[in-house]
Amino acid sequence: MNSFIFKNDSLHAENVALNTIADTFGTPCYVYSKSALVHAFESFSAGFKGSNHLVCFAVKANPSLAILNLFAKLGAGFDIVSGGELARVLAAGGDPKKIVFSGVGKTEAEMQAALNAGIFCFNVESASELIRLNKVASDMGKVAPVSLRVNPNVDAKTHPYISTGLKNNKFGVAYEDALNIYLQAAAMPGISIHGVDCHIGSQITELSPFLDAFDKVLLLVDALEQHGISIQHIDAGGGIGICYSDETPPEFTDYAAAMRAKLGNRNTKLVFEPGRALVGNAGVLLTKVEYLKHTESKNFAIVDAAMNDLMRPALYDAYHDIKAVQPRNDANALTYEIVGPVCESGDFLGHDRDLSLVEGDLLAIMSAGAYGMSMASNYNTRPRAAEVMVDGDTCHLIRKREEIANLFALENILPET
Ligand code: LLP
Repeated sequence: MNSFIFKNDSLHAENVALNTIADTFGTPCYVYSKSALVHAFESFSAGFKGSNHLVCFAVKANPSLAILNLFAKLGAGFDIVSGGELARVLAAGGDPKKIVFSGVGKTEAEMQAALNAGIFCFNVESASELIRLNKVASDMGKVAPVSLRVNPNVDAKTHPYISTGLKNNKFGVAYEDALNIYLQAAAMPGISIHGVDCHIGSQITELSPFLDAFDKVLLLVDALEQHGISIQHIDAGGGIGICYSDETPPEFTDYAAAMRAKLGNRNTKLVFEPGRALVGNAGVLLTKVEYLKHTESKNFAIVDAAMNDLMRPALYDAYHDIKAVQPRNDANALTYEIVGPVCESGDFLGHDRDLSLVEGDLLAIMSAGAYGMSMASNYNTRPRAAEVMVDGDTCHLIRKREEIANLFALENILPET
C-alpha cells in the first residue's frame, strides 16, 4: 500500500500535503503514515491468521513511542535488544509477556530488568550468556524463559553488514554446538527452555534463505525432542526486505504460506521479528534544498538533511528514491548529487538523481521509515529532526525537533584550577 502519493502535482502523506507539513513543522522532518503502518502490520499478521503465532516488531527499526503504541494496540509483541528498548516498549504500553530479548551483549542489569518485567523469552546468543542468565535469574529466585539463537550458516544474500546468519558472524551459537548447549541449559535451575530462535539477516529479498534456515531449525527441534527437550515456539527472526527501487521481496502471504507449510501439523507457536517490512515504506524524510552548486563535473543539491539524519546511504551505500514534493518541468532536469551539510564526502543521500530544482524546493527521501530516525545522531551538533505522523487529514507531532541547547546540556567544562 502506498500512502505517499501525488495529488494535484503535490506529494501527500495520506490527505496532507508534504509542503504543508514543512510549513508547519519545518525541515528536516520524518513523516509517517498511520494507515501504511497499520496496513503493514495487519497484512503481515493476516498470513498467520488461525495459527498460533506472535509478531514481535523489531524495535530497532523505529523506536518511536507513537509507533510502538500503535503496534501494541494492534496486538503486536516486540523484539528488543537493550534495556533502553525494554523501557520504551513498556512506556508505550507494550505487553511484557509479548517481548523477546535478542542481542549478543546483554548486561546483568538488562537481564534483571527483563526478568522483573516478566518478558516472554530471552533469545540467548552464547554459552557464556546462558551461564550468566542462569545465575542472574537464580539469584533473583526466578526462572528465565529461553530460546537459543542458532546460526544456521545460511547465506541471506544481502549486504555483508546486515547479514547475520553466516558462520563468521558474531550472532547466535554455531548450529553444530546447539544441541550440546541446550543439554547444558536443561540442567540449569534458573533456565527454562521455551524455544529455538534464528535470524539470518536483513533486507532479504528472496524466500529461499528463510526456508533453508527454517529447515535447519526444524531438524534441531526434532533432535531436541529426541533428547526429551520439548520446544514450545520457534522464533524465525525478521529480515523480509522492502522495495527501495526495483527489488521484489517476498509477498507476506507467500512467506507465511511457505513457513506454515514447512511447520506442517506441529503444534509449535511461530514467532517473528519483522522490523523494516512493517515501517520502511511507511515513512519519508522531508528536506529542503538550501543551495544548488554547479561545478565542472557535478551538480550538487545541498539539502538540510544529512548523514546524521539518515545514515543508510553513507553507511551501506543504500539507495533511497528521492522525489521532488512539487515537481517542476522535467525538461529542465539536471543530474544532481543530493548531499547534506555535514563535513564529510560520505555525506550524501543520493547520487546521480535527475531532478529539476530551484533553491527552497522540498524533497522527500522515500522509504525512510526503517533505520532512519533510529540511527540518527547529533554529528556536527545537529539537532535530530522532528517526527510527524499523519492520520487521514490530521498531522500529529510525535517527536519535537531537538533544541541545540539540549545537545550539550549534559556536559561540563573543567573547573578553574
Ligand atoms: N531480529 C533481530 C535479532 C535483528 O538483529 C534484526 C535486525 C531484526 C530482527 C529485524 O530485521 P528486519 O526485519 O528489520 O530486517 N541498519 C540496517 C539494518 C540492521 C538490521 C539489524 N538487525 C539497515 O539500515 O539496513
